[in-house]
Amino acid sequence: MIISRRNMLKLGLVGGTGLAVLPGVPWQSLNRAYATARVASPPVKPFQVALPVLPVLQPVSRDSSTDYYHITQKAGQAHILPGLTTPIWGYNGIFPGPTIEAKSFRRVVIRQTNALPVPTTTHLHGGHTPPQSDGDPTDLVSPGSSKDYIYPNRQRASTLWYHDHRMDFTGPQVYKGLAGFYLLRDEIEESFPLPRGEHDIPLMITDRFFNADGSFFYPALDPSLSHTPGVLPQYGYGVFGDTILVNGAVQPFLQVSTTKYRFRILNASGARLYELALSSGQPFIQIGSDGGLLPAPVRRQTLLLASAERNDVIIDFSRCPVGSQIIMKNLHGRGRVADIMRFDVVRKEKDDYAIPATLTPIAPIDPAKATVTRSFEFLLGQGMWTINGKHFDPNYADARPRLNSTEIWEFTGDANHPIHIHDIMFQVLSRNGRRPAPGDAGWKDTFLLSKGERVRIIATFTDYRGPYVFHCHNLEHEDMGMMGRFVVE
Ligand code: C2O
Ligand code: CU
Ligand code: CU
Repeated sequence: MIISRRNMLKLGLVGGTGLAVLPGVPWQSLNRAYATARVASPPVKPFQVALPVLPVLQPVSRDSSTDYYHITQKAGQAHILPGLTTPIWGYNGIFPGPTIEAKSFRRVVIRQTNALPVPTTTHLHGGHTPPQSDGDPTDLVSPGSSKDYIYPNRQRASTLWYHDHRMDFTGPQVYKGLAGFYLLRDEIEESFPLPRGEHDIPLMITDRFFNADGSFFYPALDPSLSHTPGVLPQYGYGVFGDTILVNGAVQPFLQVSTTKYRFRILNASGARLYELALSSGQPFIQIGSDGGLLPAPVRRQTLLLASAERNDVIIDFSRCPVGSQIIMKNLHGRGRVADIMRFDVVRKEKDDYAIPATLTPIAPIDPAKATVTRSFEFLLGQGMWTINGKHFDPNYADARPRLNSTEIWEFTGDANHPIHIHDIMFQVLSRNGRRPAPGDAGWKDTFLLSKGERVRIIATFTDYRGPYVFHCHNLEHEDMGMMGRFVVE
């Protein structure tokens, strides 16, 4: 076992005794503990800044098969709170990182240069990527060196994202700013009359704590947070910041016209779960999830998004009067985290977009094709987050699926765990023996496992042999060992 006390100390989880959590505390009260963490960021008024438009990175070169990019991971300065500067770590020094625009079946090679003082590894979340380029938590790029990540993009159009994945330190390194969008497009999707161009907008939702000087506060190594036996540690369950950012700006506004818009909503928070709704009472029309378009659009009043999940939605402003203001709410949050952003309808425009009645078909994988069923229990054990009773051991394979085989994986757990599996896109078969939840629709790479649930997923392991990981995407749980390895053989 590699992680451990170092890491628990980092999170203020242990004091002298090594006893980390108080048994018998109901999870509901822990949810409240998240919301009332004692650190308070400087207050900021919502809806004061425009939603940042994320820059799209240009390739340094292209040839018949491949687009080549260079990214430098480095320190930078962001202006997030009024009048203050926030030191960040970012891809090309910005947070969120630059957006990569890729095409299905056209290769992308990204040369990542690490100009940070710590090792890094870059994972393309949702990518079906050879293991050498998967950004394995142990495949580190040391300060001053570079690595070429090769993405074949042999997968359908989807909203992917890239982020740091250093073992034991993913939470803090993503928190510092190491995350960006990777939009994979294809011709099928482009053939639909969906909103495009400036009406197709990625939204990266994160939560952060700030110190009075504007710097991010992450509870690592904060001696005041050392665990006292018998007292509930504050951050062992995840770091839940009190300030909501969208595309790196505090609760921004976006000026829209009276048309439909497509929003690719990503929960890039380390731990926080959102339930999104519109103050106007309008529905979201969901067209896609983690792995691209759904078979047909689905009207949803609320969207439940766990860490790393994506929902592609249309919001139709065509019948909203000019002058209306629509707040995207977070029904899971109160006070400072209850509002995400605001849409201000500011001008009339002819709406030429349409939402087709059917999108792209998804053939359900037949459970009879599965040759193996595996079970994974996500639990707090011995004061640390575990899978089947053990912490992450990079040298141990928890599963060895055969290349091209189909397997069913069954998950149970003791708390909210967003479960993410590298390499594959899967389908959710059932929750507690019943139908999957609305948020489980389509191809998925992450799903929310709630307390006491039993969720079954099915997937086929194609194209690449080698080691990958699966883990809880609550990044603090992941850093404390809630990660497993599988090796495709
Ligand atoms: Cu988004 Cu293994 O992570
Ligand atoms: Cu991933
Ligand atoms: Cu978890």
